[in-house]
Amino acid sequence: MTASPQEAEPLIAIRNLSVSFATGAGPANVLRNVSLDLGRGRVVGLVGESGSGKSTLASAIPRLLPRNLSRLEGSIRYGGRDLLALPDRELAALRGTRFAMIFQDPMAALNPVFRVGTQLVDLQRAKRPKDRRRALLARAVAMLARVGIPDAERRLSDYPHQFSGGMRQRIMIAAALLAEPDLLIADEPTTALDPTIEGQIVALIEELRQEYRGTILLIAHSLGLVSQLCDDVVVLYAGTLVESGPAAAVLGDPRHPYTRALLACEIGAGVIRRATLASIPGEVPDATRLPQGCVFAPRCPQAAEPCRAAVPPLRALGGGRSVACALV
Ligand SMILES: Nc1ncnc2c1ncn2[C@@H]1O[C@H](COP(=O)(O)OP(=O)(O)OP(=O)(O)O)[C@@H](O)[C@H]1O
Ligand SMILES: [Mg+2]
Repeated sequence: MTASPQEAEPLIAIRNLSVSFATGAGPANVLRNVSLDLGRGRVVGLVGESGSGKSTLASAIPRLLPRNLSRLEGSIRYGGRDLLALPDRELAALRGTRFAMIFQDPMAALNPVFRVGTQLVDLQRAKRPKDRRRALLARAVAMLARVGIPDAERRLSDYPHQFSGGMRQRIMIAAALLAEPDLLIADEPTTALDPTIEGQIVALIEELRQEYRGTILLIAHSLGLVSQLCDDVVVLYAGTLVESGPAAAVLGDPRHPYTRALLACEIGAGVIRRATLASIPGEVPDATRLPQGCVFAPRCPQAAEPCRAAVPPLRALGGGRSVACALV
């Protein structure tokens, strides 16, 4: 078994991260006091219902936050520095070189007006400034072939819109890997794809995992995907980290009632369904009107008096696991 991220110095250490956005209804407190480590070489799954703050957490690392950001507190340590305190220019230099992102919509990452080959060459420049264009093109062709683009060499001169959605997703994965980032952030990369293509992309990510040595933060819709692909799992609920730890341990023996509810939603009829988390009664609270105490208490079947009195702190359980529940 690999060492848990707590044992070695993590690639990224997030401490007490709080993020709020200004809205017409007052500040939306989208992340509150989130602390977690992304271990080196680990694949970390980030799960939680829609609106839990998953994309916000992922975007806070390269500091790609919306303009109505009104509060950004805590720290995100990477390579001995706090990314939240880094000047814009230094951070911009890390994006696309040390951090790469793949999204649900590949057109968000690919530039529609440049040929795919040009884009795949340009993003390698930062790490390989002395290499000739021809060598970088050859690496691009090899990577495209690797992610399953037929006739890769000829297709270098095509534009992104000339590829199907599934193929664009593969190109985006190739682009992210060609940059050789320390951290690859994948925000629900398969959700927009039909089930067959989704299966192929998941299989591809699983295969590439063996070769890519960096850390992956994978925002996933389903716990099935997390159990298949991830070493660690982080469960977010209404901007609060409720449980985290090695995926096998957390999913095999979830401690937080929210994690249990998520699992119960997916394990229907004895199989892990592809369907998402629609069936926990109640809904994620509005980030401008969070309840007192534990954020999950209003929906929690076990909620008791202490749950409504104070926000339960995240406590270490041993074995790299943590949980924030007054009843555990
Ligand atoms: N710029 C913004 N201004 C105000 N509220 C925002 C802004 N961006 C996000 N939010 C709110 O923050 C919360 C978290 O959003 P986020 O997109 O991070 O959730 P998510 O977990 O990624 O959800 P999904 O699974 O739907 O992608 C939501 O309630 C969302 O409405
Ligand atoms: Mg999201």
